[in-house]
Amino acid sequence: MSAEYALHGTVAVITFNNPPVNGLGLATRTTAVDGIRRAQDDPDVTAIVITGAGKAFSGGADIREFNSPKALTEPTLHTLIRTAEESVKPVVAAIHSVCMGGGLELALGCHYRVALPGAQVALPEVKLGLLPGAGGTQRLPRVLGLEAALNMIVSGNPVLSEKLPALFDEVLAPNADLVASAVAFAERVAGVRPLPKVRDRQAGHPDANAFLAAARARVAAAAGPFPAPLECVETVAAAVTMPFEQGLAFERERFMHLIHTPESRALRHAFFAEREAAKIPGVPADTPRRPIERAAVIGAGTMGAGIAMALVNAGIPVTLLESSSQALDKGMTAIRAQYESAVGKGKLTPELLVQRMALVTGTLHYRDVATADIVIEAVFEDLAVKEAVFRQLDGVMKPGAILATNTSTLDVDRIAAATSRPQDVIGTHFFSPAHVMKLLEIVRGRATGSDVLATVLALAKKLKKTGVVSGVCDGFIGNRMIEQYVRQAGFLLEEGCTPSQVDGALERFGFAMGPFRMSDLAGNDIGWAIRKRRAAGQPGMTYSKVADRLCELGRFGQKSGGGWYDYRPGERTPHPSTEVDALILARAQELGIERRAIGDQEIVERLVYALVNEGARILEEGIALRASDIDMVYLTGYGFPLFRGGPMFHADTVGLRNVLAAIEGFAAGRHGEAWQAAPLLARLAAEGKSFNGG
Ligand code: NAI
Repeated sequence: MSAEYALHGTVAVITFNNPPVNGLGLATRTTAVDGIRRAQDDPDVTAIVITGAGKAFSGGADIREFNSPKALTEPTLHTLIRTAEESVKPVVAAIHSVCMGGGLELALGCHYRVALPGAQVALPEVKLGLLPGAGGTQRLPRVLGLEAALNMIVSGNPVLSEKLPALFDEVLAPNADLVASAVAFAERVAGVRPLPKVRDRQAGHPDANAFLAAARARVAAAAGPFPAPLECVETVAAAVTMPFEQGLAFERERFMHLIHTPESRALRHAFFAEREAAKIPGVPADTPRRPIERAAVIGAGTMGAGIAMALVNAGIPVTLLESSSQALDKGMTAIRAQYESAVGKGKLTPELLVQRMALVTGTLHYRDVATADIVIEAVFEDLAVKEAVFRQLDGVMKPGAILATNTSTLDVDRIAAATSRPQDVIGTHFFSPAHVMKLLEIVRGRATGSDVLATVLALAKKLKKTGVVSGVCDGFIGNRMIEQYVRQAGFLLEEGCTPSQVDGALERFGFAMGPFRMSDLAGNDIGWAIRKRRAAGQPGMTYSKVADRLCELGRFGQKSGGGWYDYRPGERTPHPSTEVDALILARAQELGIERRAIGDQEIVERLVYALVNEGARILEEGIALRASDIDMVYLTGYGFPLFRGGPMFHADTVGLRNVLAAIEGFAAGRHGEAWQAAPLLARLAAEGKSFNGG
């Protein structure tokens, strides 16, 4: 049952019951339309109340239907809204908690609206690259006026019901009984005729043309590559310039256009991908979790300090352990400096600074971390050091404590083997700065317990991060792929590019930062150390030696005043470097390479398809559970352009046959050894399939 029908005296109450948010899928729409018709046919009914059970009035359309014919199957959302609007008996929307998208559009089609305070009211379609397609752009301006409606529709952000007096006929007291109040209201208006309809009103603004011109300019500047925000402006404009029915038709047409744009597909993909990432086969949602009330962090360097802040920001007290008092002081000072800077920028109140600092305690002794529910190790990236830390933790931590490592490349199973409780060990790979970046790669070891995994996934959510589970391999999902991307960037330098050309091509593609600017920011010495470790352990993989030469010159990046670019003292703006250009030319000459002009397309394809090809291997090996998890890693941790939906989704959009053909072309060129097509990619391309299904 997705909606229930009940009589309260002479008032029919239709209650959506489609958890979690009363999405208006086909079954719910059908029952609601049947309910309104039944109430109209019942001579004893004088008015109708529509409300929602549980945690929402309605969260809106069921967006899973967007990719199926169901959204267009009668009764559509339009039909439901029209049925309410054309009812000959008054229809009252009784709103609480969440009233969004199609839910708000339905409420706007009702004759009256009654709400509890605190309800989140929004038309968030723009966040999925769409516009409200069931009359929202035509009705909301008729209720709130052009400006307030446009702000809500273009931002998609929720507004509290008590802040929208024009939208509601009554905003009740916080503890009022919503249904009883709505029924009483419905009884009062039962005799009103003609019934008030939003569609009959005018969308007001004292100077609509000037306002719309300014809005177009402002929105175009902020929208970047996304077409939806401007389309929102145009459809809202139609509420002023067109009669209602014509405006509705225009809205429908623009909605249908947007739904097929790659940008909207990408945003919808990311929306579902984020939800999917939290679902782990064999670890059901009701898997018991361990309580996390206290945490400890080992190592107060760049990552340890950031991880401590991430925990503290979520209200979890942290004990920070270091090997020396100097290092501890440095870490504590860094944390305080970050919070003080946030206060300086008005992002944090001085009281919150005091509260947050009170949640961090420093120590040099393992006995002080023993009672933590989770301990996260962030010491040097050195297996022997980490093994020693885990042996100590094994000795002191209370039974049941989760032992996590922030390693970015090392073998979590080997680290777990240093303890007598490998089931409690897990990788929590944060990204720098750890209190800001959304991604948390959760590395599941061979022995990691399901409850430990479920607990850390829940912790990611509590820290407002996107948790993505990875299996154990060198570099996990993100860094294993980025290595292939960086590798291609290096080869391109030898073959004819400059760092700024490569960065420019990737930034025009939509990356927040190209590979060389990124490396200068993170520190070129990090990759250098990894390459040296690899060369000692497992020689084999070819890569451009230009990056090593750069490091030999001490050009570690922004922190040393120069890397792939030159930086003026105290500045972060990259300037092309003649020293680096000379280095690249010398290396190309040494290798006997005749440098050639290389265009944006080749640059982008070589770097992005290197990600895709490695991603396909990671998927095939089961390191990632699904292609969309890889996309989430790249969208939330590596600045991959959101409007392209992640590397695997992008490959699907390009078509896997085209991707494979390009890879085969690169395999025939210089550095072809780096281009063996992943078997999964070759197979899916041959079958005409995609990574993300279908
Ligand atoms: P860092 O060098 O800034 O900090 C390491 C800290 O650990 C130092 O303060 C050091 O005094 C302390 N330490 C070393 N041995 C210790 C021990 N036995 N007991 C207690 N403290 C000890 O290094 P960073 O960058 O914070 O990296 C830490 C870990 O996080 C590494 O495993 C690294 O691979 C990983 N990581 C680093 C990222 C980055 O962007 N820097 C990103 C993601 C992971």
